[in-house]
Amino acid sequence: MTPPSRLAVLSIKLAQYRSYDLCTIETGGAPVVLHGPNGAGKTNILEAVSMLTPGRGLRRAGAEEVIRRPGGTGWRVRAEVDTPAGVIEIATGVAGPDTTRRSVEIDGKSATQTALGRHVRMVWLTPAMDRLWLDPAAGRRRFLDRIALGFEPDHAEVSLTYEKAMRARNRLLREPGWDDAWLAGLEAQMARAGARIARTRSASLIRLIEAQNDIEIGVKTLFPRAELSILGDMESRFSQALRAAADLDQLEVEEAALLSRALGASRARDAAAGRTLEGPHRSDLEAVFAAKNMPAAACSTGEQKALLISLCLANARALTAATGAAPILLLDEVAAHLDTARRLALFGEIEALGAQAWMTGTGAELFEGLGTGAIRLSVTESDGRSAVAVN
Ligand SMILES: Nc1ncnc2c1ncn2[C@@H]1O[C@H](COP(=O)(O)OP(=O)(O)OP(=O)(O)O)[C@@H](O)[C@H]1O
Ligand SMILES: [Mg+2]
Repeated sequence: MTPPSRLAVLSIKLAQYRSYDLCTIETGGAPVVLHGPNGAGKTNILEAVSMLTPGRGLRRAGAEEVIRRPGGTGWRVRAEVDTPAGVIEIATGVAGPDTTRRSVEIDGKSATQTALGRHVRMVWLTPAMDRLWLDPAAGRRRFLDRIALGFEPDHAEVSLTYEKAMRARNRLLREPGWDDAWLAGLEAQMARAGARIARTRSASLIRLIEAQNDIEIGVKTLFPRAELSILGDMESRFSQALRAAADLDQLEVEEAALLSRALGASRARDAAAGRTLEGPHRSDLEAVFAAKNMPAAACSTGEQKALLISLCLANARALTAATGAAPILLLDEVAAHLDTARRLALFGEIEALGAQAWMTGTGAELFEGLGTGAIRLSVTESDGRSAVAVN
């Protein structure tokens, strides 16, 4: 039997990246464990790996923010990544006068972030996500959109089109004596992009729901299932249509027309509010702890963490099914929150997926039971400089 296909960072080199002057990690495709004291530079490595996907990485940092301080003028991350289509070299970073936008090169040629998304898929979990179910809806929308982006690399660009058109519309509505034709054009753009966003979100969520149902019996109780739904009119109709195997292209046209009309009719209301009150930018993701029928926000801290891990694993399984390759997993401080049984179950799940996981924790003992194949690196910091050593 051929081993399952997967994505893996074979080697990565950081230059002038946050606390690193220079750092090279060779993995050969094996899972990586980074352990060391607080502030040593573990998450910085995970973040650098996350820069191999489109967007602002797992801390949502601006391109300038990660430049080595003090004294850095740019940064660079270069990696060899094993993909089903062969090994590719990705380089990204900022240099020169414009440090606000990072450039991307794939195999030495300038590429877009969307192109990057077609090659590399990652699923990550960080301590910052612990408040996902408690914080405002924007964080959950981002979480959902990140999932959607894994299945549909164009999703980010479509979302950007929507946001830009909406900002332009909001600006125009603030001015006295609107230009109706100009507004209608922007609304049509928002409507087309909005319908596509809703469709991609709904389709992605259904994949995730299906992947949750594949959880093996033994693991099921340790990483609980969530009943997921999107709170959004358009997404609800797409979800219904998906379940009924209806014509989605047709629905997308209808939904765009509907939103366009709704926006046209709500100009005065939106002008008074100073923002657009309707559309997929107002949607939310809802999760209910299935076994207890308890909304995620009302679950205990440990239960919420378990739900998130469960969703990330389901996302990884769904991506494997959809793309034929297991995504790379970045799990920041996940092991520390789990009791021994859950930790071993997590390691078992990762192994079953065949995914390359990058994991951090303050102590090496958290990763006992992970198997001997993992690369174990100790991370230390002195005088504001981080260093990584094999041990
Ligand atoms: N732009 C930057 N330039 C230089 N150093 C930076 C920059 N941004 C952050 N740092 C430093 O990087 C250090 C390591 O951060 P990191 O988050 O990777 O630590 P960690 O090992 O994950 O710690 P913890 O266990 O607390 O999560 C911090 O001390 C921080 O001051
Ligand atoms: Mg950290």
